[in-house]
Amino acid sequence: MRASVLSDWLAQRLDRGNGQPIYRQLHRLLQQAILSRELPAGSKVPSSRLLAQELGIGRNTVTQVYEQLVLEGYVNSATGRGTFVADSAPDEIIGAPDADPAQARGAASTQAAAALPLPQPATRALSTRGARLIAGAGVSKRQWGAFMPGVPDVTKFPARVWSRLHNKYWRRLRPDLLTYAPGGGLPALRHALADYLRTSRSVRCTPGQIIITTGIHQSVDLAVRLLSDPGDVIWTEDPCYWGVRSVLHVSGLQSRPIAVDVEGIAPCADDLAQPPKLMLVTPSHQYPLGTVMSLARRRMLLEYARQHQCWIIEDDYDSEFRYGSRPLASLQGLDTSGQVIYVGSFGKTLFPGLRIGYLVVPEALAESFATASAELYREGQLLQQAMLAEFIAEGHFTSHIRKMRTLYGQRRQTLLDAASRRYGDALPAVGGDAGLHLVMQLPDGSDDRRVAAAALARNIIVRPLSGYYAQPSLAPSGLLIGYACVPDEEIAPAFDTLAEAIDATLPQFA
Ligand SMILES: Cc1ncc(COP(=O)(O)O)c(C=O)c1O
Repeated sequence: MRASVLSDWLAQRLDRGNGQPIYRQLHRLLQQAILSRELPAGSKVPSSRLLAQELGIGRNTVTQVYEQLVLEGYVNSATGRGTFVADSAPDEIIGAPDADPAQARGAASTQAAAALPLPQPATRALSTRGARLIAGAGVSKRQWGAFMPGVPDVTKFPARVWSRLHNKYWRRLRPDLLTYAPGGGLPALRHALADYLRTSRSVRCTPGQIIITTGIHQSVDLAVRLLSDPGDVIWTEDPCYWGVRSVLHVSGLQSRPIAVDVEGIAPCADDLAQPPKLMLVTPSHQYPLGTVMSLARRRMLLEYARQHQCWIIEDDYDSEFRYGSRPLASLQGLDTSGQVIYVGSFGKTLFPGLRIGYLVVPEALAESFATASAELYREGQLLQQAMLAEFIAEGHFTSHIRKMRTLYGQRRQTLLDAASRRYGDALPAVGGDAGLHLVMQLPDGSDDRRVAAAALARNIIVRPLSGYYAQPSLAPSGLLIGYACVPDEEIAPAFDTLAEAIDATLPQFA
C-alpha cells in the first residue's frame, strides 16, 4: 500500500461518531494494516505532519500513535529518514514459540514488546481468505451525506403507505409470515415482481423463476456457489463494483478483469481464447463509469456464452433511473439459450436497508436455486415481502420510481451546473445521464485517493475512481460523486467544499 493509499484506507475506516477515541482507532488500524501485510515490511509510513493533515486530525495524535507502535515493535523510527514498518511484526516474534527474537531483524525492542499486552487486532485469527477480504474491504462506515455514491434519498420513501401496510399485517397476525421463508420467497412477491420485470425491464420470466434474496450481494453469492467451483474463472468488468468483487474472491473464484470501452465489456482475442465459467456485467449502466452496453456487444456476449457454455450474471442494480431516455431493456430479455442470471434489488429504488433483492434464473435451475437459498441462508422476512408485494400491486412502487426519477434528474443537473461554474470544462463529468452518481474526471496522474481523503476530512464523502480498477496505480483518476441523497439546496455548497479539497490537493487548481 502506497503512503497516499494508506491515508485513504485509514480515512475510510476512522469513524468520528462511534465514541472510540481517534487515537485508539488509528493505532488499531495501523496494527491491522501491518499484520495483514497491507503495509509490507520495510515500507515507509507517511510523516506525522502529512498523515495528520490528510486525515484532518491533530499531529500530536499521530505522533503518539507512531511512538506507541515503535514501542510495540511494529515500526522503527530512523532520525532524519522517517518511520518504517518493522521486518517482523511483534505477534510473529512473540507468538511463534520457535522464533529466535535475536533474529527478529528491525523490531525496535522485543523486550519492550514482550512486556506489553499482546495486541489483538481483528485479523489475527483469520484465515488467509478472511484476512484478504478484510484487507481489501471497501465498505464505508458512513452511508449517508453529501456525496455518498449509490445511496437513494431515503427520506422521500412513502413512509405513510409503508406504515399502513405494516400495521395491517401486524394487526391480522399470520403465523405463516413469521416462519422461515419457503425456498425462493413469498409467492405473492414473486408474482408482483414477474409482472414488473416483464413490463419494465423486458425480462422474460415466470414467477417460479424468481428467487427472493437479501440483495445483489447475496444473489451473486448464491449464483456463484451453485454454478462454479473454487478456482473457476470469472470475467469481471474493469472497473467494477468492489462489493461484488469481494463476494467473488471469498468464493475462491479467479477474477479476470476485462477492460471496458464505450460499448461495454471488451474482451480481447487473448481473453476470448480462454472462456470463463462465468461473467459478471452491468449492461444497462456500467458501474461505475455509466456506459451502456451496445446491442452489438450484447449479441456478441450472448453468442459467445452460448458457444462456450458460460453463465452471464447481469447486475441490473439501478437501471430504473435514466434521465432523458427510457430505461433500456435487459440483456436477459435477448437471451434465447438460458445463459443469463439476472440480478436486481430494491436497494436503489426503495431503500438500501430494506435488504430485499432477487434473481431471475433459467427455468431448469429454478428449483435448485430455491432449495439452495433456503438451505444456505434460511430465509425469512416474509412479512416485509408481503408488504412489498402489496406496495407494488397498489402501484406505489412505480409511482415512487417516477417521482424519484424527476427528483434525481434535477439534482444531477444542479451538480453538473455547480461543477461547470467552478471548473468549466477542466474537470469533465461522465456517465451522468443515468443512475445515482456521476464520475468527475481528474487530470491524468493526479492522486484521486488523496483528494477523496481531503474531502472526507471536510466531511464530504466521494470515492476515488482508481479504487474500482484491478490496478489502481495504472487507473484513470476521478471521483464518484453521488447526488441522489443530497437535497437540492445543499448540492452547490457541498460541491464548494469538495472543490476546496480538490484545490488544496491538486497543484494545478491551487
Ligand atoms: C453495481 C452494484 N451492484 C450491486 C450493489 C449492491 O446491491 P445490494 O444492496 O442489493 O446488495 C451496488 C451497490 O452500490 C452496486 O453499485
